[in-house]
Amino acid sequence: ETPRDLKIGSAVWGQRDLLDHDRKNGGEFQRILGAEFNSLTPENDMKWAEVHPEPDVYDFSGADAVVAFAKAHRQEVRGHTLLWHSQNPQWVIDAAADWTCEEARDVLEDHVRTVVGRYAGEIYEWDVANEIFQDDWDEGGVRLRTEANPFLKACAEDPVALLGDVFRWAHEADPEAVLFLNDYNAEGINAKTDAYYELAQELLADGAPLHGFGAQGHLSLQYGFDESIQENFERFADLGLKVAVTEADVRMPLGEDGEPDAEQIALQAERYDKMLQACLDVPACTSYTVWGFDDGRSWVPGVFPEGYATIMTEEFEKKPAYHALLESL
Ligand code: XIL
Repeated sequence: ETPRDLKIGSAVWGQRDLLDHDRKNGGEFQRILGAEFNSLTPENDMKWAEVHPEPDVYDFSGADAVVAFAKAHRQEVRGHTLLWHSQNPQWVIDAAADWTCEEARDVLEDHVRTVVGRYAGEIYEWDVANEIFQDDWDEGGVRLRTEANPFLKACAEDPVALLGDVFRWAHEADPEAVLFLNDYNAEGINAKTDAYYELAQELLADGAPLHGFGAQGHLSLQYGFDESIQENFERFADLGLKVAVTEADVRMPLGEDGEPDAEQIALQAERYDKMLQACLDVPACTSYTVWGFDDGRSWVPGVFPEGYATIMTEEFEKKPAYHALLESL
């Protein structure tokens, strides 16, 4: 039980972590996953490339595994994600080369209704639109990703109209689900979150069923921490939206021995906890999710020259960050 029913979640990749029974430490991983969290986000299983690999083929095996595991452990599920510039299947990339907006809309509508509809009533929050703003902040401000995102590109003449409809399709398919915008570098008040704040107002004024704003919470000790996270959450809450920390991890550059020093370990705990505090202090915050709980499965080393990003080591030893979070709850 957490204060005012704040959900505490972890990402889990159903295909890799639940269905691959030969995976190292898989049993222990699943035991911790089932015991420590009351919310799960499929790390990849509901993304286009996994769930919709061919135009007429949906593969729900990984997503089903996450939903079934959650049910068996009395956990709830955050859906992730329906509209993103990354992890789209090759057929989308190929088809997008000559899409009209009408064609892009048809493909997206079918996908949203099918995927959201399949899990209607089983998903409490959906990251409907993920990372739709680019953050080349110096080059003429923050703009919607109308180049990299094939759907936004096809409908670049009026991307906000498309976004409103994506939320409408999702809402029709599952009227109970709380529908989110979600992005990184979106914790504090900055040019990107200003752009989201404006977009949210525009969508709401247009009657779109937008219900939440998610800050992913991918932090690095290479950079400072923006203390305005609570203030940022509050301004979205004042619009009537829920807020959430959706993908927390705190990575860091490691020494030659691959180990962090004591100062970094303490600072990591502090940053994890600061994001949780913002959530605890803003009543509209519904969930705090870590993007995996063990370094052995973290996405960080594959993508950044950094590591030690999660709250437990590869051997599931609990780090100070784990204890800091638990103490605050
Ligand atoms: C990452 C997964 O963790 C990796 O397994 C995958 O290879 C790439 O995507 N922001 C998001 C997540 O919204 O979906 C990303 O997840 C991490 C960044």
